[in-house]
Amino acid sequence: MDFNGKRILLGVTGGIAAYKAAELARRLIGCGARVKVVMTRSAQEFVGPLTFAALTGEKVATAMFGPDSDPLEHVALGQEVDAIVVAPATANFIGKVAGGIGDDLLTTIMLAATRPVLICPAMNAEMWANPVVQGNLARLKGRGLLVMEPAAGSLACGAVGLGRLPEADLIVEAAARLLCVPDLAGRQVLVTAGPTHEDFDPVRFLTNRSSGKQGYALAKVAWRRGADVTLVSGPTNLPAPYGVKCVAVRSARDMQAMVKAHFPEVDVLLMAAAVGDYRPTQVEVRKIKRAHEEMAFHLTANPDILKQVAAMKSGQIVVGFAAETHDLEAEARRKMREKHLDLIVANDVNRPDSGFQVDTNEVTLIPRVGDAVPLPLLSKEEVAAKILDQVVALLESRDGDHAKDA
Ligand code: PMT
Repeated sequence: MDFNGKRILLGVTGGIAAYKAAELARRLIGCGARVKVVMTRSAQEFVGPLTFAALTGEKVATAMFGPDSDPLEHVALGQEVDAIVVAPATANFIGKVAGGIGDDLLTTIMLAATRPVLICPAMNAEMWANPVVQGNLARLKGRGLLVMEPAAGSLACGAVGLGRLPEADLIVEAAARLLCVPDLAGRQVLVTAGPTHEDFDPVRFLTNRSSGKQGYALAKVAWRRGADVTLVSGPTNLPAPYGVKCVAVRSARDMQAMVKAHFPEVDVLLMAAAVGDYRPTQVEVRKIKRAHEEMAFHLTANPDILKQVAAMKSGQIVVGFAAETHDLEAEARRKMREKHLDLIVANDVNRPDSGFQVDTNEVTLIPRVGDAVPLPLLSKEEVAAKILDQVVALLESRDGDHAKDA
C-alpha cells in the first residue's frame, strides 16, 4: 500500500480498543502517510496522548479549548487532511455524528469535515446489535461515510460476538479506498482468480500452479478505486480481500456457472483464473487403488468460459489473460481474436519471478484496438493498476459511444 504524501486524521474515541489505534497509527505511517491524531476525553482514559505523539511525531489534539488548543483546528483539520479514519468508533460517537452533535473537538471536526471518512466501530455485541446504533450507522452510510463491520470474537466484557475492532491491516486496506482516485466508482467488476480442481476420485484431482495472487490483486485494486467487486475464486490459500464479495468455486464448471450468473450485471470481467482446460471423463466414487505399473485416463474438454461469456456481451469490457511459455504475443493475439476480448494480458510464465505463485509479474497489455504495452517486472498490485487504467479508458470510450448513439 502506498500512502506516500497522504495526510490522515486518526480519530480515537473511548473504548477498550483505543490501545489498538496505536498499532493502526504505526501501520498507516509504515505505508507512508502522515498521521494526525485527535483523541476524545474518554479515549485518554484508555491510552495516553503521549503514545500517539511518540508514534506519529505530531502533537495530539485533545480539546477545543485550553492553552494548547488551536482555535481553528475544529474546522481546519477535517478539511486539510486527505482522509479521516475513526478507530475505534464508540456507539456514543456514532450517535453524535449521526445526530449532528459537535460537543468536543472530534465531533466538531466531523461536522465541518469535507474529506472522505472511514468509521471503524468497536463495542459490546449487544450495543452493536441495538437498532438505534444500527440506525445511526445506516444514516452515516447514507451520507457516504465508509463504515467497517466489526470483527467477531471474544470481547472485553467477556461475551463472544460481533464488536471487535478489525485488525489494523484490514483498516489500512479499507482506508486505501478513501485515498485512491475513484475512477471505478459505480462500476460493477467481476474478477476470476486461482486454479480449478477437477476430480479423479474423492482424494485426487487435476489442477495447475495458480495461487490466485494476480486475480486477488485485481479485485483489491478495483475495490480501492471505487468499484463494487465480485471475486469468483478457485481454491487458494489467500484471505478474502476487504470489501470484495467472494464466491468460492472448485471446478471449471462451477466457475462457469458463477461467471455466467454474474456476467449480465457487470461492466467489466477480468478473467485471471487459470481454468483447467480438461477434466477426467469419469470421476470415481471410490478412491482409485494402485493396481498396475501404468494407468491411463481419459480427459474431456472443459467449457471455455471466457469465449462463452464474451459471446453474451452487451457492452461489458471483457479482459482475458494468456499464460504462455512460447510465442507470447502471437498466442495472446490469437486468443484475443478467438475469444472476442477487448484486452488481453499476455503473461510470460517462463521467468522464475513472473507468472504463477510469485508476488511479481511481467506482462504485455494487448488491446483489441491500439498498440501493445509491454510492462517491466512489477508487483502484482502494480500490474493490476496498469490493467485497470486501460479498463477505465475502455469504459470511458464505451460510455462516449453510447452517449453519441443516444
Ligand atoms: O494465480 P497466480 O499464481 O498469481 O498466477 C497468475 C496467472 C499466471 C494464473 C495469471 O496471471 C494468468 O495468466 N491467468 C490465465 C491463465 C490461463 O489459464 O491462461 P490460458 O491461456 O490457458 O487461458 C486464456 C484465457 O481463457 C484466460 O483468461 C482463462 O481464464 C480463460 N479460460 C481458459 C480456459 C477455459 N476453459 N476457460 C477460460 O475462460
